[in-house]
Amino acid sequence: MTQLKENLIQIDFSPSVRELTRLDLEADGEAGAFALADAPRPQSYHIITYGCQFNVSDSERIEAQLKEQGMSAASDEASAELVLINTCSVRANPENKVLSKLGELRLLKQDRPDLVVGVCGCMAQREGEALLKQAPVIDLLVGTANVPRVSELAQKVRATRSRQVALEIPTTRTEALAFERGGTRVGTMGKLKSFLPIIEGCDKFCAFCIVPKTRGRERSRPMEEIVRDVERLAANGCKEVTLLGQTVNAYGMIEDGGHRKSAPHFAYLLERLNNVEGIERIRFTSSHPADFRDEMINAIARLPKVCEWIHLPFQAGDNEVLRRMGRGYTREAYIALVQKIRERIPNVVLTTDIMVGFPGETDAQHEKTAELVEELRFDSAYMFAYSPRPDTPAAVLGEQVPRAVKKARLNQIIAMQNAITCEINAAAVGSEVEVLVEGPSQKNPKLMTGLTRGNKTVNFTGPEALRGQFARVSVTEGHLWGFMGEWTGRVSLSSFEAERKGAAA
Ligand code: SAM
Ligand code: SF4
Ligand code: F3S
Repeated sequence: MTQLKENLIQIDFSPSVRELTRLDLEADGEAGAFALADAPRPQSYHIITYGCQFNVSDSERIEAQLKEQGMSAASDEASAELVLINTCSVRANPENKVLSKLGELRLLKQDRPDLVVGVCGCMAQREGEALLKQAPVIDLLVGTANVPRVSELAQKVRATRSRQVALEIPTTRTEALAFERGGTRVGTMGKLKSFLPIIEGCDKFCAFCIVPKTRGRERSRPMEEIVRDVERLAANGCKEVTLLGQTVNAYGMIEDGGHRKSAPHFAYLLERLNNVEGIERIRFTSSHPADFRDEMINAIARLPKVCEWIHLPFQAGDNEVLRRMGRGYTREAYIALVQKIRERIPNVVLTTDIMVGFPGETDAQHEKTAELVEELRFDSAYMFAYSPRPDTPAAVLGEQVPRAVKKARLNQIIAMQNAITCEINAAAVGSEVEVLVEGPSQKNPKLMTGLTRGNKTVNFTGPEALRGQFARVSVTEGHLWGFMGEWTGRVSLSSFEAERKGAAA
């Protein structure tokens, strides 16, 4: 039975029967036979995702909704009835990619006028209706706080042949507190590893950053709901959950007379999740240095399932640059925090974000960043050249650093950090690591692949039957991307390292 005929059977039982469009009929080659039926909604979708783990998680949630509506994934955009682009605005580059993709979809839609084109995510939120003028091909424009409405609105586009827009987002503290926070954030079920947002939006307003505008004011999800989500994930086979937040460790923070203070909420949440049966590893990202409290360090050190990996962006090594960025910590405070973490959490893997070329950054100030990279020896880093973002304070600062200077500074930092990453990974040769085995590597299907607790990739020789299990792997090579290894023959359904840590506590 063809896809279209299956659709028609569904439609026959639906109260909203309409006429089939001529295009649908022609696609099936049986136009005359189905002249009275109509497809009120698109039946196949293709989602293109740019940006961070938040967008990956949102796309999974959208996909789950569409599947619930009976839609199925198309193999590519050319064969999909609904194409959704989940966008990122953090730098100019991902936005340019979206504009060029919209150009391609405009051409596709010339041949297939029934194609529904949706744009959601941070660029939809940032540009709002102005994006519709730039790209009239868009039928559906959905902001970051309206993810739960995507499938309903996509159906409405098809059924009413009119454009749908949903962009509400909390922009004040009062709105954030009143904002509908309820509802699961679980997307695709049945995966070994899942992302789970626990705190949304951001109240830090760093001078360079668009995220507070695109994701709205900070709001923590109710703890009981998060615990329920993690229990559901575990019941459906998930063993590793990564808690997401722009400032994930600010989870549960409350305002107190103008000062931010934290009840031990994030640490307490980790404790609660550590007790969820079936979950073997708990990660979280990104942590903000200004919100990293002692009780959090102690929780990571003590709780067996909480992995020893902390992503702690520092951005810049010079105090004046940090102050102008509005980051809320100094170089010295950051170094002291890293030292404390390393003292209390043996084998901790530390990763970071670094930005070069913030407006006004001098050569000497940039050198302070390079010195910090050398001194702190991170396991790895995401490194960026500053990209001016509309409507952010830094974009209108006078002294923008010339492009060529930013490029040279970025290349210098990348070369330094890559050398350090290679040295650290090479030093692990001969050690044994625990790998949660995901299956054969995409690049080399003869090898199995998975992550260590420290979030490093390991490709190793071993049987496919290891998938979904914890394997002990001996590291034979260290690379920029991670490790090559050999399976030692030891395997377990639960985390060896969690058991070891629990026994030592
Ligand atoms: N909330 C995290 C924090 O404060 O560390 C960062 C989240 S942001 C989505 C990820 C990274 O993108 C930042 O750490 C920063 O290095 C980089 N970034 C943000 N805005 C940028 C800009 N305008 N130009 C270049 N990089 C930027
Ligand atoms: Fe952006 Fe700063 Fe918030 Fe991170 S903490 S998301 S860099 S505003
Ligand atoms: Fe990009 Fe939005 Fe994430 S701007 S980095 S997709 S929060």
